[in-house]
Amino acid sequence: MCILTHAGFFIKNNKDTNELDRENISYVLTSTSHLLLKDEPLSMIPYQQARFDQIFLDPSHNLSQWFQNRESSTSPFAIAHGKLFFEYVEKEPKLNRVFNEFMASDARLVISTVIENCKGVFEGLKSLVDLGGGTGKVAKSVANAFPEINCSVLDLPHVVEGCEGSKNVSYVGGDMFKFIPPAEVILLESILHDWSDDYCIKILKKCKEAIPDLIDDACHRTGDFNLCAASLRTDPHIRTADIKGLTCIMMEMCLDKAKGISSQIERIIKQATDRGFKECLEICLKEFGLAIDNHLPYAIKQLDSVDYVDATYSLMGVDNSAETCENQFTDPSVFTSPLTDVDAKFLNLTLVTGDLLSLLK
Ligand SMILES: C[S@@+](CC[C@H](N)C(=O)[O-])C[C@H]1O[C@@H](n2cnc3c(N)ncnc32)[C@H](O)[C@@H]1O
Repeated sequence: MCILTHAGFFIKNNKDTNELDRENISYVLTSTSHLLLKDEPLSMIPYQQARFDQIFLDPSHNLSQWFQNRESSTSPFAIAHGKLFFEYVEKEPKLNRVFNEFMASDARLVISTVIENCKGVFEGLKSLVDLGGGTGKVAKSVANAFPEINCSVLDLPHVVEGCEGSKNVSYVGGDMFKFIPPAEVILLESILHDWSDDYCIKILKKCKEAIPDLIDDACHRTGDFNLCAASLRTDPHIRTADIKGLTCIMMEMCLDKAKGISSQIERIIKQATDRGFKECLEICLKEFGLAIDNHLPYAIKQLDSVDYVDATYSLMGVDNSAETCENQFTDPSVFTSPLTDVDAKFLNLTLVTGDLLSLLK
């Protein structure tokens, strides 16, 4: 009991009792050893039993042989049993069942903690693939906690055979190196550790192919792909945004930029001495003020109310502001515009925003 207490399986109830006074010593389970009770909802018994099964212990005798002649195509398991683990399991239905239960008991514990502490990761998602998701413990827990997410479990055919889906859980039998169903998010729980770096890169490339890139797609349909994609990718909210969301993000960016330009104009006015030059800048300030106080907030409001026609008109008002400002300086022999660059960049941003908005109509 001393050793087990020291290892964290038990806590001595009365710490001051002398070790030799056995009748008065009692012990209670710790939160770790609770996981070894069979009635515990998060019981880890299948996990521990499988770990000590001979089939999993044998490879440890081949570690040094594997380490000395390491090839990425083999493993201590393959040296001990003649086949890579997942090929071996396919032909051994009993081991297949034991292994799936073993993984499920581990996954149950992990995902309950993830859902409790990392809700934000899942909020707002509509689709998820649990890659190598075994019999679906993780996907089912996610689907229960977030009913609006459609979860697919992709695993080898012999693993998902006989698994029953539900309203928002489905099973796909297949090989992740060949095809991963499209989804907003691919979940990899206890997957990459099974594979060498080369295989991990293959898996991650397949994941990337499976995640549709809305920004790429939408921005290719605007007049300036680079500006559109580079601007959007800096925003943390793009992860869950649809085209309307992306347009809103761009409008907010235009608003921020307009405010920045407005402050810049104020600074230039303060330093300017020429009256005519100041007057031109004051027109610019008024135009950007209109964009900040009227056109952009109204465009955002109309976008939110799904009135895309009105939102487009308001955005045209914003384009107009930048152009009107720049037009004050058309005759370079009189004044050179200090805002040509910022005006042009701002105008491009509003034009790209308009292009995104037009995708919604
Ligand atoms: C370590 S288990 C993890 C299971 C599950 N994600 C969990 O955490 O409980 C690895 C899983 O990857 C699956 N797997 C192995 N090779 C695969 C492949 N080529 N395609 C799809 N799944 C595969 C296995 O069948 C197994 O279910």
